[in-house]
Amino acid sequence: MTNETRQAPARMAGLHHHPFSATELRARRRELIKALGEDAVLLVPAAPEVIRNRDVHHPFRQSSDLSWLTGFPEPEALAVLAPKRKEGAFVLFCRPQDPEREIWDGHRYGVEGAVEHFGADQAFPMTELDQRLPEFLADRRRVVYPLGLDDVFDRRVIGWVRAVRAQARKGISAPTELVSSDQYLHERRLIKSTSELKVMRRAAEISALAHQRLMQSAQPGSSEQQLEATFLTACAEQGARFQAYQPIVGSGANACVLHYVKNDGILRDGDLVLVDAGCELDGYASDITRTFPANGRFSPAQRRLYDLVLKAQLAAIAKIRVGNHWNQPHKAALKVLTQGLVDLGLIKAEGAALKQLIKDERYKPFFMHKTGHWLGMDVHDVGQYKQNGRWRRFEPGMVLTVEPGLYIAPDAEAPAEYRGIGIRIEDDLLVTDREPEVLSAKVPTDPDEIEALMALPATATAA
Ligand code: GLY
Ligand code: MN
Ligand code: MN
Repeated sequence: MTNETRQAPARMAGLHHHPFSATELRARRRELIKALGEDAVLLVPAAPEVIRNRDVHHPFRQSSDLSWLTGFPEPEALAVLAPKRKEGAFVLFCRPQDPEREIWDGHRYGVEGAVEHFGADQAFPMTELDQRLPEFLADRRRVVYPLGLDDVFDRRVIGWVRAVRAQARKGISAPTELVSSDQYLHERRLIKSTSELKVMRRAAEISALAHQRLMQSAQPGSSEQQLEATFLTACAEQGARFQAYQPIVGSGANACVLHYVKNDGILRDGDLVLVDAGCELDGYASDITRTFPANGRFSPAQRRLYDLVLKAQLAAIAKIRVGNHWNQPHKAALKVLTQGLVDLGLIKAEGAALKQLIKDERYKPFFMHKTGHWLGMDVHDVGQYKQNGRWRRFEPGMVLTVEPGLYIAPDAEAPAEYRGIGIRIEDDLLVTDREPEVLSAKVPTDPDEIEALMALPATATAA
């Protein structure tokens, strides 16, 4: 977007809405151009369109990298950052306008729109890509791009390098290094800006309120699919049409299947229900899990396990402090869970110390995933967890999930009252200079509060 259009209503006819000012996007590119240096060129392709069946496509979702860098929403596009280029460093290749096609598929920005609305110094139609791209690689040492992400694109890059090499006798030198763009783009995406956080707060709030509504609608006899529909509707009504991932709605033992997405069971009286669902808003994910009793009251055995998972989650959250490292929350959760499993008779310690039980991974039959991940444009967001072989330290602006769980399979070696119970509690946390901010706090995790919420008539929530 240019300065002139920045103030225009976000949903102006045909124009794509994105929440970042032209100034912010320009600053992201400027910083990146500086980091690349004069002997590198960066290529960031659009996501491919994916066929669902015959002539039906999956909903198009732009590549997070391209979105973050340009805000450009269309498929069949490529952004180039070429530092110190005479005609300007930022070039967009995109689909040309096509009145005939646009009657069917809607507005396209075209090359003029790429310059006018997205601040490209120059734009060219995608049809000219093979002809023009070698010029951008000429006399650059490094080609920086999503190396190894897509076979077809990898081969195209090598083709362009070869085309430059063919001109060696004219004194033009070809790139000698292909470099992954991850270290340039992903480390920057890991630290969220004020405007990104505004979107992420809202995404988490929408999902939290949708979880509330779902919980209040649930009762024995409801179908998992109905609960999913309630969640999707609540998100869509609040402006979030897409989900960050497929919702998981597992009642009873279905909750023990970690990536359960069939969502075709019926809630029985006495079941717990695990719902892991989060909307995507303006390209940013939320990721929330709540576990609640179908009939609105935890049984004593369910409550014991639930309290343990919650205690582990709170212990993990308490470790999210600037200066602490990535694995500390996980370690804190393991400590609480392992001790709790011993106390409840699910681990037979036989005199072994807690440390040894953790080292031997005795929690593993009941807790087999990590306690969290980075969260951002992608639900399992980018950014390294280790640097130079060491766990990375927390910094303000990082967003992560904290999601311990316990999954006691129906055939587990465990007291009968615990078998077939799956519990996970997942929140979205922002690292700050002080206590972390819980972005997903609008839906309770406290079991008494969950019971109180479920006892209210559904209309009482502010969704
Ligand atoms: N919903 C995916 C996850 O929790 O990581
Ligand atoms: Mn998660
Ligand atoms: Mn999740």
